[in-house]
Amino acid sequence: MERKERDVLILAVESSCDETAAAVVRNGREVLSNVISSQIAVHTRFGGVVPEIASRKHIEKINQVITQALDDAGKELADMTAIGVTYGPGLVGALLVGVAEAKAIAWAAGKPLVGVHHIEGHVAANYIENPDLKPPFACLIVSGGHTHLVVVRDYGEFEILGRTRDDAAGEAFDKVARAVGLGYPGGPKVDAAAKEGDPHAYEFPRAKVEGAPYDFSFSGIKSAVLNEINRAKMAGEEIRVADLAASFQNAVVEALVSRAVPAAKEYGGGRLAIAGGVAANSALRTALAAACAKEGIRFYYPSPLLCTDNAAMIGSAAYYEYIRGARSGWDLNAVPNLKLGER
Ligand code: KG4
Ligand code: ZN
Repeated sequence: MERKERDVLILAVESSCDETAAAVVRNGREVLSNVISSQIAVHTRFGGVVPEIASRKHIEKINQVITQALDDAGKELADMTAIGVTYGPGLVGALLVGVAEAKAIAWAAGKPLVGVHHIEGHVAANYIENPDLKPPFACLIVSGGHTHLVVVRDYGEFEILGRTRDDAAGEAFDKVARAVGLGYPGGPKVDAAAKEGDPHAYEFPRAKVEGAPYDFSFSGIKSAVLNEINRAKMAGEEIRVADLAASFQNAVVEALVSRAVPAAKEYGGGRLAIAGGVAANSALRTALAAACAKEGIRFYYPSPLLCTDNAAMIGSAAYYEYIRGARSGWDLNAVPNLKLGER
């Protein structure tokens, strides 16, 4: 396709956790390339992400990942309109690698730099495969570090309806996976194990937060699973991993669905999207699709590859920041605890 004068091409960079990623995105919605170099194999033997190792691996990979993203897109740096980069939240050393790289490239090529909020990126993943999706809509954000139920008022503008009071949903998946011996990364392993198990084998608590109908709490569910494992061990019983995984997952999914669907109905104009690594969970996707169909809510979800960390979603979010006039200075820094809704 010939490049139109108004086309905005973003080279996006993401390095907030354990994926080194770069992508080229046209006009916020069309992914020309999406390269992800995962560090999972490196961190697996430690049972989780080791921040220092993550930073070093990002440094090793980032140049080749960016070159690959430009090559796959059939573009050159000179063709780009702007450079987008995740500057928070995330691991500070990991974020700094992407931020320093993006600054250097933008400076050298004379391109504007656009710092992107990682969670805003996760939400934007929904725009890539749903050309008709525009704000406002409700969005359930469930990642390794975040669990928020929001109304997306406009691109990059969120009103928070609820949040977790303790663990993030992904964190609970990761901790339970470790406890039952499934290892890292927990979410996909629990998802797979649960397919062989009975979701009603154990009844785990569904915590409600008094006076905050859209808030979540997952530490009670997690503790109940850990207690059951200890009880079984003490009694010399075999640990039924598949049943534990299925019952735990069922409890988390119920907690998420029972809040997200009413929120979409009341505040989201009858539209619900999901975002973040846990949005790749097969049971959550099935349960939300069924509940939304029943309630007449339109349900939007990114494909699993765009749910977990990637740079295409950062390119989409960067586009909307770019067209509203946002530009970062050469003093852009990593902000490891950047809050949702902050820029
Ligand atoms: O969004 P993400 O890739 O990174 C963060 O920004 O945190 O999310 C990672 C989280 C991890 O906790 C991982 O276990 C979880 O998402 N996750 C899943 C699945 N795939 C990834 N949780 C449940 N089911 C899955 N299929
Ligand atoms: Zn993420």
